[in-house]
Amino acid sequence: MPPTPAADQHMTVRRMRFPYPVGLKAWWNPARPEFSHVVNAASLGMPYLEPYLIDTMRKAKESITDPELLKDVDLYIGQESTHFRQHQQWNKRLAELGYKAVPKMEALLKADYEAFGRNRSFAFNVAYAEGFEAMALTIGHMLVEEREHLFGYADPAVASLILWHFVEEIEHKTVTYDVFKALDGRYAWRIYGMFYAMIHIMARTRQGYRAMLI
Ligand SMILES: [Fe+2]
Ligand SMILES: [Fe+2]
Repeated sequence: MPPTPAADQHMTVRRMRFPYPVGLKAWWNPARPEFSHVVNAASLGMPYLEPYLIDTMRKAKESITDPELLKDVDLYIGQESTHFRQHQQWNKRLAELGYKAVPKMEALLKADYEAFGRNRSFAFNVAYAEGFEAMALTIGHMLVEEREHLFGYADPAVASLILWHFVEEIEHKTVTYDVFKALDGRYAWRIYGMFYAMIHIMARTRQGYRAMLI
């Protein structure tokens, strides 16, 4: 029997593991070495960005009264927790391969997100989360649409990590948007959060992949 529409409306937390073969290099798609390093550089940020998003959403929960939204936020937290743990495994492999940029970028990203959590307003942090998720939604669509071009000839474990992550990201924009709307909703802050998150993440990713390509 097909699931009822109500059962379809909530996200699913999937516990995943990706077996990276011994000897796999950082350019996990030999046909796209530069793209491999762009993805690697973005991956380095996940164990710092996603716990920051989780902390922001946990704090947001204190002011949310809608039980459906509270449920969505819990599932969002469940998915993000699984994402960053899987990225940690891949990032560990990148460090073991001897890339000096890995610990350097990890230290910078850790400091960035700790500072946002500690020094920035809650309005900023919610706007950053909503802005990041809006960007992740479009990246997710792009990765799925262009999967043959970007992931053809790739190692299946890394390709699956990225595609699994970003398919789940497609569900996140709605949650953070609903939270933003329930708690703040100022359009100017929404636009500011989107541009800030986009520029910050793109700048750090560019810095990371350039260092890894050397
Ligand atoms: Fe995620
Ligand atoms: Fe997300």
